[in-house]
Amino acid sequence: MRLAPTDARLISGIYQGRNDTVEITQPACTDPVIVNQWHVISALDEISVGAVNETLLLEERVSFTAAPDGECRVWRSTPDLPAGAAVDAAALNGAEPLPARPEFGYLWTSLGDAPAELFDLPEYHHPRRRNMNAGSVGVATSAPRAVENFLDLAHFPYVHEHSLGVLPHTEVTEYDVEIRNDEIHATRCDMMVPKVGANFDAPMVMRYRYRVPHPYCVMLFYDSLPEPSAEDVCGIWVQPMTAERVRAHNYMGVIDDTSTDTDIKAYQLLIFAQDKPILENQHPKCLPLDPRAETPIRADRSAITYRRWLSELGVTYGVIPAPGREGGAREARQRMTRQVG
Ligand SMILES: [Fe+2]
Repeated sequence: MRLAPTDARLISGIYQGRNDTVEITQPACTDPVIVNQWHVISALDEISVGAVNETLLLEERVSFTAAPDGECRVWRSTPDLPAGAAVDAAALNGAEPLPARPEFGYLWTSLGDAPAELFDLPEYHHPRRRNMNAGSVGVATSAPRAVENFLDLAHFPYVHEHSLGVLPHTEVTEYDVEIRNDEIHATRCDMMVPKVGANFDAPMVMRYRYRVPHPYCVMLFYDSLPEPSAEDVCGIWVQPMTAERVRAHNYMGVIDDTSTDTDIKAYQLLIFAQDKPILENQHPKCLPLDPRAETPIRADRSAITYRRWLSELGVTYGVIPAPGREGGAREARQRMTRQVG
């Protein structure tokens, strides 16, 4: 595991981004499970080419840029390269580079030892698919709360009435959830939906499936309207700025020959704007992993599986570990401290 010196990870102050002001008062993330992941930090088409772009990842300031040929570089922020300054991507003025991985229209990096591969997404490459970032939205919640909310079918008729759900059709029928190949898969998720996407106009019972291939990334799939043998994909890839502050990157990959990009993005952002206040009003902001913490109902089977999966992975960042798991988390931190020291 490669980590910055301990003192460099103790940060305090105010992070001022384009759309976010975040007070950083905690030590940087000490959860090795999360440190050693790929994390999304920007949509590729939002990167200022040849200039220093800056964001916050796991309480660390991270800078990035793209060269005119599209090559991306990421590094730990340094006073020598302030946000907005011109930068030569090939040189970086000697700053410490971090891994940079452009994938699915986004830039991903890691503060630790990331796996060799990010999760796959074969649907991305369908010849008719239109892939886009519908928007990156700052939300005052934890990454696991954002993922769990996305997984929750039961809120559709209440929070997204007339778009993703309609009253009184609130029943969530039995569906399947399993952990397969180190990912969560929920299938046969049926819901009466008035308007599932920008190019859908007639209400229908939509059969969804969900996939959680990463602790902070979740996707929803449904049959595409013009090509039912393929699926549209809608995902949120959550960038943990701090344990209780995220940027939710709204990925859309749809087969749609009629809507404009603006139509597709506006519809997705309308949906997400309905979720944002719900997320920001949830307390505690970190997700409790104790199975007894919040009363489960049948519709929460995905949520229960997600919480159990995070526990089994040993995730401690953005969550309240289940009793009996704190010891494991403490040992993991001690192991990391020893390696850092
Ligand atoms: Fe929602």
